[in-house]
Amino acid sequence: MSLKMKLIPLALGGLLTTAVLVLVAIFVLRAWWNTPFEVFGFGEAPEQPIAFPHNQHVQIDGISCAFCHRNVTEGDAATILPVEGCLFCHATIQGDQAPPEVAKVVAYFNENRPIDWKKVHRLPDHVQFAHEPHIRFLTQVQGLSIEQSCSTCHGNVREMVEVEQVRSLKMGDCVDCHRNNQVFTENKDITDCTTCHY
Ligand code: HEC
Ligand code: HEC
Ligand code: HEC
Ligand code: HEC
Ligand code: HEC
Repeated sequence: MSLKMKLIPLALGGLLTTAVLVLVAIFVLRAWWNTPFEVFGFGEAPEQPIAFPHNQHVQIDGISCAFCHRNVTEGDAATILPVEGCLFCHATIQGDQAPPEVAKVVAYFNENRPIDWKKVHRLPDHVQFAHEPHIRFLTQVQGLSIEQSCSTCHGNVREMVEVEQVRSLKMGDCVDCHRNNQVFTENKDITDCTTCHY
């Protein structure tokens, strides 16, 4: 084999190694840094089974976040009002002239089916997050209203027609906020890996 022929696989191998290293580096940096979502196209709202307008309910109807996300001040998951709760209002205000999206809500109720909302925010399974301590801290220590506390991580949902993720909520983002607020639990530095990882 000529020298040239021997060099080709070497060169290819080098390229491959570089490519793998670059991929690994991107993977690690993405975890630590707050990668802007636009770059990866994560910022878009998923299509929901019913086009539910937050702005209509919050801004115009004046319904509070915690009315529909009842568990948010008490537990881990915020939870979403079940379809029976939607019917409180939609069985009466609309009657037979319900707009199509509201008719869908009524159909879910009549067929006794839960609405399968698509998740907008989703942490991997190996990460634990609880709403309650965050809301408690932001309202009691920082003096925000409940709605302002939501905005800290979810942006101005009050004006959104479709909810979309506006804050990275990647590991670097979580850790930075914990560090900046000097939070500790059970005498353990809150930036300790086991605080957020199972
Ligand atoms: C406290 C009362 C109330 C509750 C609870 C409520 N809504 Fe509404 N909703 C309204 C009002 C008022 C409107 C505006 C009515 C209109 O458009 O005629 C509205 C509008 C809507 C619309 C837009 C209708 C259109 O014009 O296309 C949808 C979709 C909707 N609601 C879905 C839901 C769902 C799903 C739930 C439960 C998670 C829910 N609503 C809970 C009061 C409520
Ligand atoms: C009338 C009920 C209602 C009210 C009031 C309401 N929401 Fe929602 N929320 C919903 C429903 C239904 C969904 C699921 C559909 C969707 O994602 O748009 C949802 C979804 C969300 C999501 C996305 C959840 C995910 O999948 O990651 C966030 C964040 C959120 N709401 C925050 C808020 C905040 C903040 C407020 C107050 C400013 C608020 N909501 C007020 C009913 C409500
Ligand atoms: C410290 C940041 C932070 C704050 C403050 C916050 N959230 Fe969230 N929220 C998240 C994260 C992270 C997720 C994704 C959780 C997961 O995938 O396990 C989430 C998910 C949700 C969801 C969908 C899943 C669920 O938990 O049911 C809703 C609805 C929601 N948040 C509503 C709210 C509302 C309403 C408020 C204000 C009362 C609020 N959040 C405040 C970070 C936050
Ligand atoms: C706005 C700043 C902020 C952001 C952003 C934030 N946190 Fe926190 N987190 C806090 C504070 C403050 C506490 C301590 C609350 C208390 O006093 O109990 C805390 C506590 C926690 C706890 C411990 C709860 C307990 O007491 O058991 C976990 C777990 C946690 N955060 C996970 C996360 C994760 C995961 C993310 C990112 C998705 C995140 N946090 C983003 C401020 C933040
Ligand atoms: C404040 C919460 C928090 C702490 C503390 C934390 N992590 Fe994470 N970690 C997250 C979140 C949220 C994700 C998922 C989002 C992402 O990929 O950034 C994650 C993802 C990861 C991933 C997977 C990356 C990927 O792309 O899937 C690894 C590995 C990891 N963490 C290791 C660690 C190690 C090691 C420590 C301790 C030095 C640590 N984490 C401390 C919140 C945390």
